[in-house]
Amino acid sequence: MIPKHIIDDIMATARIEEVIGEFVALKKSGADLKALSPFSQEKTPSFYVSPNKQIFKDFSSGKGGNVVTFLMEHEQCSYPDALRYLAKKYGITIPEEKEITPEELLQANEKESLFIVLQYALEFYRKQLEETEDGKALGKSYFLERGFREETLEKFGLGYAPNSWDQFGSEALKLGYKAEYLELAGLSKVNEQGKRYDMFRNRVIFPIHNLVGKVVAFAGRQLSKDDKGPKYLNSPETPVYHKSDILYGMFFAKNSIRIKDKCFLVEGYTDVITLHQAGIENVVASSGTSLTDGQIRQVRRFTPNITVLYDGDPAGLKASQRGIDLILAQGMNVRLVIFPDGEDPDSYCKKVGGQAFETYIEEHEQDFILFKSQLLFGETGKDPLKKAEAVKSIVASIALIPDPVTRTIFAQECAKIMEVPEQVIAAELGKARRKEVEDSSRKALEAAEIAEQMLPDEEIVLSHLTETEKQERQVMKLVIRHAADPFDEERNVAQFVLDEIHEGLEFTNPLCANLLEEVRKALSEGHVIDATYFVNHPETSVNSFAADALQDKYRASDRWQEMHEIPLIHEEDNYKLDLHSAILHYKIRKVEMVIEANLKELKEAVEEEKITELMEKQNHLMSMRRALSELIGATIIK
Ligand code: GTP
Ligand code: MN
Repeated sequence: MIPKHIIDDIMATARIEEVIGEFVALKKSGADLKALSPFSQEKTPSFYVSPNKQIFKDFSSGKGGNVVTFLMEHEQCSYPDALRYLAKKYGITIPEEKEITPEELLQANEKESLFIVLQYALEFYRKQLEETEDGKALGKSYFLERGFREETLEKFGLGYAPNSWDQFGSEALKLGYKAEYLELAGLSKVNEQGKRYDMFRNRVIFPIHNLVGKVVAFAGRQLSKDDKGPKYLNSPETPVYHKSDILYGMFFAKNSIRIKDKCFLVEGYTDVITLHQAGIENVVASSGTSLTDGQIRQVRRFTPNITVLYDGDPAGLKASQRGIDLILAQGMNVRLVIFPDGEDPDSYCKKVGGQAFETYIEEHEQDFILFKSQLLFGETGKDPLKKAEAVKSIVASIALIPDPVTRTIFAQECAKIMEVPEQVIAAELGKARRKEVEDSSRKALEAAEIAEQMLPDEEIVLSHLTETEKQERQVMKLVIRHAADPFDEERNVAQFVLDEIHEGLEFTNPLCANLLEEVRKALSEGHVIDATYFVNHPETSVNSFAADALQDKYRASDRWQEMHEIPLIHEEDNYKLDLHSAILHYKIRKVEMVIEANLKELKEAVEEEKITELMEKQNHLMSMRRALSELIGATIIK
């Protein structure tokens, strides 16, 4: 448990715009910041961050809340993990939490257990590399020979797995780590004879980090060409390691990518590390596999510009086409750099040094589509059939570009390079686009359907609520916005609402009812309740409701007006009228419910006496309703 005063400290220190800015490329938009939603695949930005209110709101997915909510949603982590991340970022010390016992480990959920086991493995391999004879002689010397410096080994957590059948596994078990999680993480296995053995043996180890810097997997490289097995061995997929969503080096690269507004994509672990060492930090690796949509989306959060640093020959390049087409389809600008024969970014950077390397990139960077045109044109020569095929292939790439202006420019350029009339390219492009549009609109439709099922957007939440509950939410939104503002001479807004929503008029919506109860308790204990109280609330349902209430687009009074078609005058301190009106509408609705119930009883009543009694009650209720209506009329004109 993190102590309350530390949580308060973290919430008071953390700046939502700084934290989200590490994951998403935010652009200024009035008083707010705006970006493409990191939770969906939208093409126009509808993700807002408000530095003033310290909230975010994503209109495409409906998600919203405070900085902790964002981290929990985005990193799929727990509440304490999000707080720990913030504490680390802002240099706030969380008092030593006691060591995790094996029993507690058992109780921790699966993902957390995996993280714990992976962290242990990281430390084990590090220790082997730095402190054991074999580690130093075999592992460390290998890295040093490749030109990695001491601080680089530490930064990337590079390690050594000893040449032993089961040293890692048996030490871990002795320390109380559960076999179940060692196996789930792919670090220790049991063969058919029931004998336990380590996954990584006699290999140098590259830890793979997720976006927030937690180790989620490892890659082990063989030490010499004669070793058995593949050159690189990778951890299997686990609940914390989805290969298709991870780019090697992203954690170390993300800030630099954002600042430089450009991401270099390389193939290998060593390329990333060597470039880093040379001061080029905006670089990530696909780890030799073909790119996935998920990986590209990760890059796109930080920049639309991607440059593929390619070490292969033209044949290999054709093989990686699909990956590049995926990048184009995400609306990114793709450039390409090809290295001299036999060199990869790692070897070339070492050969010429960081500065010359960067100059090389600047001079050799070419647009992917133009490059492809030249490449194919060079191959086809004057053969008309081959040329037609080449045109189709290039047009297929151009058709993927979402922006029409960019598409047209490329079509013109390619026509020149390929020496074909522009109309020919345009006609092909028309055909290809129709197919592309059909495909993508089908996909968009599917995505929207899934989103609707999964995401509790404000609209969807509202559609499941009763009329009464909707009105309760309006009242509570005004409380969130104005709790500490004065209502009359003696009371602030929170106190006024507490007085009005008395016994017999209790809210029915669980969120509203609990929240109001909490406000009651807090006030009776002498605490001040204001918007920050709700925004910083540990419960996601509360702080995301607060984000809705505070987001300008969802101004309580606007919604109120929309829903009831009541013309309200908008001024900053119009909240008293809005509140009055909201509470009166709520009361009317309550009275109407009693009226409905009474009428039903009246219809079923047979005894004369009972009927008279119910009639009287009905009259009384109707006059109450009239009185409330008149009050509403009065508030509106006032
Ligand atoms: P070094 O040879 O150590 O310089 O590594 P490299 O990164 O230059 O390797 P290479 O160009 O051969 O491969 C590029 C990337 O592909 C590597 O970083 C790995 O991610 C991946 N890769 C290469 N060989 C294997 C293999 O045998 N198995 C797996 N799983 N991945 C591999
Ligand atoms: Mn290499």
